[in-house]
Amino acid sequence: MDIPYHLAIIMDGNGRWAEKRMLPRIAGHREGAKSVRRVVEECRRLGVGYLTLYAFSTENWGRPRGEVEALMRLLEQFLREETPQMVANGIRFNVIGDMQRLPEAVRQEITAARKKTADCHEMVLTLALSYGGRDEIARAARRLAVEIEEGRLDSQDIDENTFSGRLDTADLPDPDLLIRTSGEKRISNFLLWQLAYSELVFSEAHWPEFGGTELRAAFEEFSRRKRRFGLLRAKTEKGLSVGGR
Ligand code: FPP
Repeated sequence: MDIPYHLAIIMDGNGRWAEKRMLPRIAGHREGAKSVRRVVEECRRLGVGYLTLYAFSTENWGRPRGEVEALMRLLEQFLREETPQMVANGIRFNVIGDMQRLPEAVRQEITAARKKTADCHEMVLTLALSYGGRDEIARAARRLAVEIEEGRLDSQDIDENTFSGRLDTADLPDPDLLIRTSGEKRISNFLLWQLAYSELVFSEAHWPEFGGTELRAAFEEFSRRKRRFGLLRAKTEKGLSVGGR
């Protein structure tokens, strides 16, 4: 079974999972947080290098205030409780998105988790928080414009690499595989630039039901795909041609 070097996940279906059980939506998010723990652990065990989870989108700010506040509390609690585990398992914590919009308490936990896990090198766990792909691209364009205004960059030097370097994901490789749960088949403003050549796998399981079995099934499907990156033959990550997998 091939293991993606960078796995990105759209964790969808918490609300539907809860509604099916006549529970409040937040109960679905709480159960979803347990799936996050399970999946992080399994990815680390299987040797995933980078795991990026879509935890809160720029659009999610428009949800009812009670749900937004509950999600923020869950995030804060997750970071406080999980940081020691991350350190013990060599997991470096990272975030992408517009941090300025997050409550101060969440920002503090993020800073602490980043600091405590800075020397971890087994896996990078990135949470996309207050994240939108279009917002990220717009912020990168603004950064380039400032550099030009200040005379530190020539507009002629803007290419795919200089642009990638101004995205929140500047230090991350592009995802090899994107999984979306709960049967929806959309990208929903996630990693718009970075998913250009990623394989997409859609799982019917709602996120609270997603665990090791579903993750391995997605990796099996990924292993059967032939990645050609727009070329004629399947290619490996290092650019060597292979017979196809
Ligand atoms: C999508 O389900 C999920 C979210 C908008 C939030 C994701 C949050 C978690 C998995 C829990 C907290 C995260 C961490 C990292 C501790 P939805 O509410 O859109 O579900 P629906 O489409 O069925 O309504």
